[in-house]
Amino acid sequence: MSYQNLILTEEGPFITVTINREKALNALNQQTMSDLAQFFGEDLPHRENVRGVILHGAGDRAFVAGADIKEFTSLTDDDGANMARRGQAVFFLIERSKVPVVAVIQGFALGGGCELAMACHMRIAGEKARFGQPEVNLGIIPGYGGTQRLIQYIGKSKATELMMTGDMLNAEEAYRLGLVNHVVPQGEEMAKAKELLEKIATKGPKAIGKVIESINAYYQYDQDGFAKEVDCFGEVTLSEDFKEGAQAFIEKRPANFTGK
Ligand code: COA
Repeated sequence: MSYQNLILTEEGPFITVTINREKALNALNQQTMSDLAQFFGEDLPHRENVRGVILHGAGDRAFVAGADIKEFTSLTDDDGANMARRGQAVFFLIERSKVPVVAVIQGFALGGGCELAMACHMRIAGEKARFGQPEVNLGIIPGYGGTQRLIQYIGKSKATELMMTGDMLNAEEAYRLGLVNHVVPQGEEMAKAKELLEKIATKGPKAIGKVIESINAYYQYDQDGFAKEVDCFGEVTLSEDFKEGAQAFIEKRPANFTGK
């Protein structure tokens, strides 16, 4: 598959996806959203041997500086709601990916950029990273899931303040509030993300997918997370990976998981 605004770099069982609009601080125009939908919806699910994805923005000034504001000027009456609906659907593809997706954030993660980072399973920030939902500065609100996910990560009080003021968090504040998993010196973000994914890749891939599915159920109001956990547990106990994992423990050797 080919992408206009994404660069895919494959390295062993990992794929690095670079949003490649550096001059626009990697702002999410509709083409980039289509590319993300294609990658996470159609491409990645067919790559059985992939064990992790790193998502980042080109250059070191921004992960993503938001939805592309220049495209907003051509919005007509129904477009806003459709844009939000579609954006949310794309980000659900990421959040519901069976393969772990780690956002590497250098510079700005604002608006749709912060929302995109929050749709990933984990976030590694460089020390100059900045996070925020500044949509109110434009007279709008977050539309790609930000009003919901920011509360999930940092709680209602601080999320309300950030969305009403448009203020930015620096990397340390984002870490303290639980928005990012690790803060590392500038330039070491990729290495940290790879270290994390390499560790996860030694575990049962099916189990990792079921961890994601069970965690997601906690945040879906139409689902009983405990019941989902039971279902997922039942499925993994039937897997070849489980037999291998238990056998490897008994034989005191590393497990050789296949994802089956
Ligand atoms: N959409 C479209 N283009 C954007 C953009 C966005 N969200 N964010 C930045 N850009 C473009 C700028 O228009 C500029 O392009 P130009 O050189 O053709 O004028 C380029 O990226 C560099 O941005 P600039 O504003 O000059 O950089 P800065 O360092 O002075 O400021 C930001 C950086 C991120 C603080 C500032 O660009 C900004 O506030 N961006 C909008 C953030 C936002 O509101 N996001 C939510 C959108 S709903």
